[in-house]
Amino acid sequence: MLNPDQWVPAEVHKTPPSIMKLSLPKRIRALVKLHDTPLMVVDKRVLIEEYARFKRLLPRVDLYYAIKANPHPDIIKAFRDLGGAFDVASEGEMRHVLAQGVKPQRIIFANTVKRPEALEFARKARVNFVTFDSEPELYKIAKHHPGCRVLARLKVSNLGSIVELSLKFGADYDQIVPMMAKAKGLGLRPEGVSFHVGSQCTNFENYQRALEVTANIMKGAVERGLPFKIVDIGGCFPIKHFKSDTISLDTFASKLRRELDRLYPKDVQIIAEPGRALSGPAGMLICRVVGRSIRNNKNYYYLDDGVYGDFSGIVFDHCKYEFRTLVKTQKYASILAGPTCDSFDTISLNEDLPELDVGSVVYVPSIGAYSCASAVVFNGIPPAKVIVV
Ligand SMILES: Cc1ncc(COP(=O)(O)O)c(C=O)c1O
Repeated sequence: MLNPDQWVPAEVHKTPPSIMKLSLPKRIRALVKLHDTPLMVVDKRVLIEEYARFKRLLPRVDLYYAIKANPHPDIIKAFRDLGGAFDVASEGEMRHVLAQGVKPQRIIFANTVKRPEALEFARKARVNFVTFDSEPELYKIAKHHPGCRVLARLKVSNLGSIVELSLKFGADYDQIVPMMAKAKGLGLRPEGVSFHVGSQCTNFENYQRALEVTANIMKGAVERGLPFKIVDIGGCFPIKHFKSDTISLDTFASKLRRELDRLYPKDVQIIAEPGRALSGPAGMLICRVVGRSIRNNKNYYYLDDGVYGDFSGIVFDHCKYEFRTLVKTQKYASILAGPTCDSFDTISLNEDLPELDVGSVVYVPSIGAYSCASAVVFNGIPPAKVIVV
C-alpha cells in the first residue's frame, strides 16, 4: 500500500544512526523506547550491502528495484543514489518514484495490464519503457503511448517457487515473436523479452529453462529483422528468513552468470526487477505482547501487529518468519495472534517460545518486503511505523 502515514522520513524520526551500532538487544530496547511498537526498522546499511552483493554476484545485470516490495521513500532514495533503476506497477507508484527525484529514463512500467490513464501519464512523464503480454495491450499502448519501448512478457515455469507469477501473466513462447512484429507494425519499439520465474525462487531450473527459451526467441526475432536488445530476468531471487535457510542468490549466481554469458552476446542488456532480495533482508519488525492466555495447553500471545498489518505477507506472500525474543529461558509450544477481533488474525499456531509477559518484545528479521507494503488499518489498528536508519 502506498500509505504515507506509515512512513516516517529520517529527518522526522530523528533516530541517531549510532543506535544501529549497539548490540541487537540494546538496539531493540533503545528503538522501542524512542518509537514504541509496532515498529519496522529498515537498516540502510543492509540495503546498500544487498545492492552491492547483487552487483558483485551479477555484474552484467542492471537493477530495477520493484518498489511494490517496500516503497518507503528513503529506500527509493538509497537505491537512487547507488545508481539503481525502478520497476513500477501503477500510476501511483510511478508518481511516487518520480517524486523521489528519479529520472523517468530509470523506470520500467512492468505491469502487463495497464490503465489507459496510466499510460497517458507515463507518456507525459516520459516513462518510456513498459511490458506487455497480449495483442490488445499492444493496441492500448500504441494508442495512449505511441512509440513506446516495449518488452514482451514470456510465460515460464514457476515450479517450486513460493509465489506463482505465471498464472495471470505471460504469453506462450510461440506468440512472442509475432507479437514483437505486431508491436513494430503499430509503431512501438519492441526491444526484447521479460519473464518471472516465481517469487522466492529456489529452483535454478526455472531460470535455466527461461533463459534458453528466451535465447531461442532472440534468434527468431533476429531472423525476422526485429531488434532484440534486452532480456529482463525479472525479480524472484530468494532470501533467507531463518538462520537455518541455505538457499540464496549466492548459491546460484555463478550458474546464472555463466548462462547469461553463454546465451547472450555482450551487447544484449540484461536487467532484473528484484524486490524482496533488496529490501527484505534490511527490515526488522519489532512487536510487543499486548495480551496472553493459555489455551489447549499452549501459551497464547497476542501481539500488537498481525496479519492485517505487517504480517500480511503470511497471507499474500505465503511467507514464514522466524520469531525471536529477548528472553533466553526454556521454550514452550506457543501460539501467536494479532491484535484485531478476528480469529483469522492468527500469526502462527506453533512456535517454540520462552515464557513471555505483557510488554515482552517479539521481533522478526528479514521482513522488509511484502509486509508494510500490503498492511492496512483494520479495527482502527494501524500497521507499524516504518523508519529507515
Ligand atoms: C512484475 C514484477 N516485477 C518484480 C517483482 C518482484 O518480485 P520479487 O520481490 O520476488 O523479486 C514482481 C513480484 O510480484 C512482479 O510482479
